Amino acid sequence: MTVKGNQAFKAFSVSEIEESEGSFKYLGSLTERRIADLPAGDLLIQVAYSSINYKDALSATGNKAVTRHYPHTPGIDAAGVVVESGVEAFKPGDEVVVTGFDLGMETPGGFGQFIRVPVDWAVRLPAGLTLEDSMIIGTAGFTAALCVDKLLTNGLAPEYGPVLVTGASGGVGSFAVALLSQLGFEVTAMSGSAEAAEFLKELGATEIIDREHFAEAGKRAMLSERWAGALDVVGGDTLFNVIKSLRYGGSVACCGLVAAPSFHATVLPFILRGVNLLGVDSVNLPMAQRLPVWQRLGEEWKLASLARLRQPISRADLESAVQQVLQGRSIGRLVLDHAAEP
Ligand SMILES: NC(=O)c1ccc[n+]([C@@H]2O[C@H](COP(=O)([O-])OP(=O)(O)OC[C@H]3O[C@@H](n4cnc5c(N)ncnc54)[C@H](OP(=O)(O)O)[C@@H]3O)[C@@H](O)[C@H]2O)c1
Repeated sequence: MTVKGNQAFKAFSVSEIEESEGSFKYLGSLTERRIADLPAGDLLIQVAYSSINYKDALSATGNKAVTRHYPHTPGIDAAGVVVESGVEAFKPGDEVVVTGFDLGMETPGGFGQFIRVPVDWAVRLPAGLTLEDSMIIGTAGFTAALCVDKLLTNGLAPEYGPVLVTGASGGVGSFAVALLSQLGFEVTAMSGSAEAAEFLKELGATEIIDREHFAEAGKRAMLSERWAGALDVVGGDTLFNVIKSLRYGGSVACCGLVAAPSFHATVLPFILRGVNLLGVDSVNLPMAQRLPVWQRLGEEWKLASLARLRQPISRADLESAVQQVLQGRSIGRLVLDHAAEP
């Protein structure tokens, strides 16, 4: 396929509109972009699939911690085919996956049919996965896998007891429930969504608890020991309630902040129960650590329930999907298929 600089392509683009002095609103719409508008980079990629993550919803609604310059094409995930390559490592026709780094933040992302990125951001499509599979996984699933990997490295094993997943019906949470249960863990899913209960059970959760009970910072310094490990996407006081409920020597992998970035804490669970708080970042993870996790996701960690997580959408659905994510109502993984007719 040859692509000319003036060739147009379709994209979901977000514009910043000044309503009154210093006050802006953000409008998403289906637009045309040109290849020549894309930034310089080693690889021009025709995007087949993308997905929606929490961060995309922030970028699409003017969160300046994610995106400062508009008009902008969000999409922190993209999977597709190399169309032009300025480097030896990839040739036209190669299938690649790009997640994280600056994609979809300041760099036009996967909500457009083409992206151009530095070679250091691209992962060859792992064996065992289709392009669509890789976007059912996307940043959310990849992050869940990083959390599980860190918990296992810190000694978690199924025989030590149940594991808790918070924000369980969302992208990271649902993938984590499925992966942990496939690895033989007894999984408790914490959720605020009653309609997701059946879905979470199908993914392997054996217990579902209401997130409301864990949302407030309580007065008690410690809570009874419940979980051998936990994976938290919620942050805020929920995270510290989880820490207070870990069994002796247990760990929680912390990767998100949907409730809040800060929490009230004491050192007591750490010095009385020896529990561990493990931070996880998927965005700037070096390639040497990124590749083995992607490989594993196509091999021994390939989810039997991968298709069950997929909620397919077209570009025309992006605006409502963004609102769904912001309201905490999305279930599973919203996968954008650029070939689906809007
Ligand atoms: N560190 C990293 O590299 C990394 C990578 C990916 C994502 N993240 C972060 O992880 C978090 C989750 O991302 P995601 O893509 O999975 O988002 P998501 O699909 O929107 O899922 C978040 C889930 O959290 C729950 N939730 C929503 N609002 C809540 C609130 N106010 N209080 C408590 N629970 C709430 C909901 O599940 P229930 O209804 O089931 O409770 C929701 O489905 C985000 O903060 C994101 O930025 C970080």
